Amino acid sequence: MNIDGKLTAKILRVQLAAEVTELKARYNIQPSLTVIIVADDPASHVYVKNKVKQTQEIGMISNNIKLPSETTENHLLSLLKQLNNDDSVHGILVQLPLPKHIDESAIISAISPDKDVDGFHAMNSGRLFNGEAGALVPCTPQGCVLLAKQHLGEDLSGLHAVVIGRSNIVGKPVAMLLLQENCTVTISHSKTKNLPAMCKQADILIAAVGIANFVKADWVKTGATVIDVGINRISTQEGTTKLVGDVDYDAVFNKCGAITPVPGGVGPMTIACLLKNTLAAAKNSIQLP
Ligand code: GUN
Repeated sequence: MNIDGKLTAKILRVQLAAEVTELKARYNIQPSLTVIIVADDPASHVYVKNKVKQTQEIGMISNNIKLPSETTENHLLSLLKQLNNDDSVHGILVQLPLPKHIDESAIISAISPDKDVDGFHAMNSGRLFNGEAGALVPCTPQGCVLLAKQHLGEDLSGLHAVVIGRSNIVGKPVAMLLLQENCTVTISHSKTKNLPAMCKQADILIAAVGIANFVKADWVKTGATVIDVGINRISTQEGTTKLVGDVDYDAVFNKCGAITPVPGGVGPMTIACLLKNTLAAAKNSIQLP
């Protein structure tokens, strides 16, 4: 079966909108998210446009700062300092990738951990690693776990989760989240020996490699839950292009128990979880649980 990320994200946004309304009514605070985008990568601008629209739709304040490609690292650092000190800003997101002359890790480190709604700051990854409460957790990994639970129910205890990919944005944090859910977790990657056999052991298979249609049907255990994080644009025979995931969806669909489609799976959940983190940051700013 198909796991509908679009619908799951919509339901989550409705819940968040109700919480935003309550926060405004009871505490007179309106969560606000500032998104900074440097240069003009068309795909990034599409993502940011969606983020802005959905932030506003659930009643949050959205600030969108567009900077030219020649923006210096120092300029960005001083802007972040200003936003960190601004109490009306609850969440800050710097859209990645940044132009090559800007050191991404320096920028991520300069965002206040309390406003780091991407959850990329070392303070937040450390909290996640330690299983501490109060971490802002990266959005795509949160979305993956919510979608797995959508099919499997709340209790993932004892299931074997195999993650393909070890990035700081998806692979490593999703492995930590699944461990917190009492899964047995294997992180596999490009150097893993016999990857198909490893994947075939998975009750939950998370594909985050960035290679179109990489995971084949004979890599998947019958009945497994497959979460496809990939967003790859490929050319079609008709001379157009289309988006596909890291999983060979059509072939795997008949083998697995459930699978997230691309588009319409993990993608919409990433933005919904960004809004969830922004709400959490706003609540934390007034010491609400
Ligand atoms: N670029 C692609 N995905 C992301 C994301 O989740 N956060 C940020 N900041 N940039 C991205």
